[in-house]
Amino acid sequence: MDILNDITVICFSPTHTSRTIAEAVAAGMNAARIRTVDLTLDRSDSPITVRAGETVVLGAPVYAGRVAPEAVRRLRRIQVAAGASVPAVLTVTYGNRDYEDALIELYDLAVSLGLSPFAAGAFIGEHSYSTPEMPVAEGRPDTLDLADARIFGGECARKLDSSGAFAPFHIKGNRPYKEVKHSGNQTVPETADGCPLCGECARVCPTGAVSIDLNARKVLTDPALCIRCCACVRACPAGLRTYTTPFTAFLHEHCSARRDPETFL
Ligand SMILES: Cc1cc2nc3c(=O)[nH]c(=O)nc-3n(C[C@H](O)[C@H](O)[C@H](O)COP(=O)(O)O)c2cc1C
Ligand code: SF4
Ligand code: SF4
Repeated sequence: MDILNDITVICFSPTHTSRTIAEAVAAGMNAARIRTVDLTLDRSDSPITVRAGETVVLGAPVYAGRVAPEAVRRLRRIQVAAGASVPAVLTVTYGNRDYEDALIELYDLAVSLGLSPFAAGAFIGEHSYSTPEMPVAEGRPDTLDLADARIFGGECARKLDSSGAFAPFHIKGNRPYKEVKHSGNQTVPETADGCPLCGECARVCPTGAVSIDLNARKVLTDPALCIRCCACVRACPAGLRTYTTPFTAFLHEHCSARRDPETFL
């Protein structure tokens, strides 16, 4: 098997599971160089150009059975250099409920950007809404998931090496994609008393929804910007940031049976 030259992982991953998976897949691909372009905190519009000789691994979370809309917006910055054919491995990571049409949506997005997808996988990460009291896929991706991701990476590299690398392949999902119903009155994470205003929640927020009001000594969250990704909740060193949603109890009750990664080549 030839050694691939350059792999570029391009991801959006507020609570880091999508990035961990995409990087594990890349690690399994036996490349000379791997670089990660993490778009989670990058709100710029500047293009991300990929060139001949590169292989791309995309990583994005599933929100409501679709690719997280903020991930779609950021991945749209990818530009394939003129005349280049850039193979792409697609990965989505979901919180052990289901990924429905997310992988097929990521496929369509990749094709629309001029990439050449040849493999895809849906993996499991701890659910953004998981809490210590009501865990959902706690600790995932775990060692088994990461081993699966690396094995899948090896399969991707072998497929890329073979003559039929770009033959059409099946991916689970439907078109038109599942419709996402927006509930008008969504809550946002809250900060409990005693917050020392360290600013970590503002630093990790992908959309700039959090600000620190030093005069009022308060953490403010803009509901219009918040995507409920829970990055701020996970990152709060004092454990004072929480997000309360009835989904947590539902997921804990109905989506606790372990699901395993599914791959398509
Ligand atoms: C708004 C929102 C919607 C979500 N919808 C789903 C879903 O439909 N199915 C599922 O299994 N997990 C769902 N999740 C959980 C995430 O897909 C999961 O936690 C993923 O690992 C997060 O990726 P990240 O760590 O890269 O941010 C959702 C999470 C959020 C914040
Ligand atoms: S990360 Fe936690 S402790 Fe720091 S400002 Fe935000 S809520 Fe307060
Ligand atoms: S404020 Fe909202 S968008 Fe920002 S990190 Fe927290 S949950 Fe995510």
